[in-house]
Amino acid sequence: MMDRDKRLKSIVSNLSGETKAIRIGLDRTPEREHSEPIFTTSSFVFPDALTMADAFINNSGLSSYGRVDNPTVDGFCKRLAVMERAEASEATSSGMGAILSTLMAHCQAGDRIVVSTGVFGATLKLVKDFFIKYGLEVELVPPTDISAWERALSRPTKLAYCETPSNPTIEIVDIEALGAICRAHHCLFVVDNCFMTPVLQKPLLMGADLVIHSATKYLDGQGRVLGGAVLGSVDLVEPVTSFIRSGGVTMSAFNAWIFLKGLETLDIRMKAHSENALQLATWLLQQPQIERVNYAGLTSHPQKQLIDRQMKSGGGVLSFTLKDGKREDAWKFLNATCLMSLTANLGDVKTTICHPATSTHGRLDGADRQLMGISENMIRIAVGLESVDDLIADCERGLVAIAQ
Ligand SMILES: Cc1ncc(COP(=O)(O)O)c(C=O)c1O
Repeated sequence: MMDRDKRLKSIVSNLSGETKAIRIGLDRTPEREHSEPIFTTSSFVFPDALTMADAFINNSGLSSYGRVDNPTVDGFCKRLAVMERAEASEATSSGMGAILSTLMAHCQAGDRIVVSTGVFGATLKLVKDFFIKYGLEVELVPPTDISAWERALSRPTKLAYCETPSNPTIEIVDIEALGAICRAHHCLFVVDNCFMTPVLQKPLLMGADLVIHSATKYLDGQGRVLGGAVLGSVDLVEPVTSFIRSGGVTMSAFNAWIFLKGLETLDIRMKAHSENALQLATWLLQQPQIERVNYAGLTSHPQKQLIDRQMKSGGGVLSFTLKDGKREDAWKFLNATCLMSLTANLGDVKTTICHPATSTHGRLDGADRQLMGISENMIRIAVGLESVDDLIADCERGLVAIAQ
């Protein structure tokens, strides 16, 4: 390691969060590269049998096999851990891989888990279609009803799971309040921080035990690759690591490199996403054909006080419902737009638009969608970084189409 790198290491703890997101990660190799290298190798060689045995049996710290560790993936984990203020972190092949690994690692047949109704469609499918099949009891609770959480958690519960803000209804779970209830009942508290990222919200500092990410979204930021992460204390992440090694839901080195680079611009992107989303939400709110706008940055959000306490700004995702609207109207709106990408992903610099009831949450049955507050007249926009004027013009095309 060069002397300059050693000196940088010695001052790292004094650096600001923004600087750490850019400077922490991989140690420079003897090649003196400036950008972090991608270690595209499925395994690693050893100088002798004893060193190899130490790596495999005693976890000596040397990389051994790609499903177990990789320096580029480790670099991503280290950088994200510093940003989330986590002691440890693990990377997975997708956000769903992170959720699966967390539940597999921490739950067993006979356990009971309590899950917010405001979670991503596939998360709900995973627990209802699979974990129940393997003997887990699942209770669903509305995200904002703290007394319902209190009641649900008064029975012995292994794990409470939520996402905040919820997708796509933008309801906010009070992390501090729920964290306190979970602690009182000795229940693990897991928060999916995908919508906010550590730039806008740090759940581990507010009482969460584990944080989940779909890195696919804002951590990448340009809609290129899939990935996920689980973060928390060493004791809680270690079982997740163990499952990932055996289950094989590992992040690839190339994807980890994309995320490492994404983290370098996350701070500035999240601020810009929030500014654009607030402007678009404010405009949508003034349109007579729109019934309701759900956006965490609006002063009219019913949980404004909690939002101000818990989040730095509203983030990039909003949803709205059309007055007297049906599915046909929402589809007309979508079909008339042409700038916004008609796709299910979010967190991209390119704005995306979708009809949650027939896409992200389309595989759920109608009763579950109703429980989650996802109506046929709801549209979700994940606001990117284009000019807001162009986004407004695109929404105008949608509104004109439904007026005809
Ligand atoms: C909040 C949230 N969590 C988890 C996921 C799952 O992530 P992935 O698609 O990377 O598996 C998504 C996907 O859209 C999401 O929106």
